Amino acid sequence: MRAQILQLGSFLPALEQELQQRFHVHRWPDDEPQEAWLAEHAAAVRGLVTGANLGVRNALIARLPALGIVAINGVGFDRVDLPFARERGIRVTNTPDVLTDDVADLALGLIIGLLRDVPAADRYVRDGHWLSGPMPLGRKVSGRRFGIIGLGRIGRAIAARLEVLGPIAYSASGPKAGQERYRYVADPLELARDSDVLVLAASVTASSRRLVGRALLDALGPEGYLVNIARGTLIDQQELISALQQRRIAGAALDVYDDEPKVPDALRALPNVVLTPHIGSATHETRAGMARMVLASLDAFFAGTQVPNALT
Ligand code: 8YV
Repeated sequence: MRAQILQLGSFLPALEQELQQRFHVHRWPDDEPQEAWLAEHAAAVRGLVTGANLGVRNALIARLPALGIVAINGVGFDRVDLPFARERGIRVTNTPDVLTDDVADLALGLIIGLLRDVPAADRYVRDGHWLSGPMPLGRKVSGRRFGIIGLGRIGRAIAARLEVLGPIAYSASGPKAGQERYRYVADPLELARDSDVLVLAASVTASSRRLVGRALLDALGPEGYLVNIARGTLIDQQELISALQQRRIAGAALDVYDDEPKVPDALRALPNVVLTPHIGSATHETRAGMARMVLASLDAFFAGTQVPNALT
């Protein structure tokens, strides 16, 4: 008999098909507890698959007594409580490395898109404004001072892409061995003060959560740009909106938000932002690679062999 798993959210159709071939899949649109379903099926669920941006709340894990594995289709595990899972003997897996290049590529694209107004330029041509004259000038990208918060796998890949454009400094929990060509700045406020473009590439921890608030935005200043490809919860979104409205920073490019897919009207109305819908890993190639990793982790767990990419 096929093992029963619970799928939260939706994935690449090919991954969903593979899951259905291997398992008896129950699907929820999100992780909102569904009482009637739980009463009937909770006891039988042995695995759970979820997106990194959705995760799974402890209240649901606590209702699934036979749960043995949570496979995250993504690298971030800020929405899964690892100590809570570990205590219950539940394996949690993710999909590192495979998406690093895509996320870094998007960061580079967002930086250029933001400073050179690429989305506005596209609209300018489509809407026929070019016929009436040239569009307003943008800002030069090459030669800017780039600051990166978080120099893990993705931060390093972003730095590698930015090296050809300008000097790079970073903040992290400590200086990173082998990364001496980038300047380490312990204090994120100082990093913001010294950067023209500040890129967020950190995971969410107790110390990085809401790190970007009024003080850091004011340190970045009216000529500074903010780019976030990591997590919305690194930023105080309301403070960011105020800073953008009052031009206390020059602009922002965001791929991630507080309460996805909801993006506040005040943010969407701003002219000095470039907004993308959490597409860091959203390419055919990378999503196929992530799918293979999710399946490999589930297969190993249910075969009783060593589980790859296990976080617990
Ligand atoms: C996706 C991500 O949003 O890997 C992550 O941490 O945020 C992304 O890859 C998502 O997990 C896809 O399901």
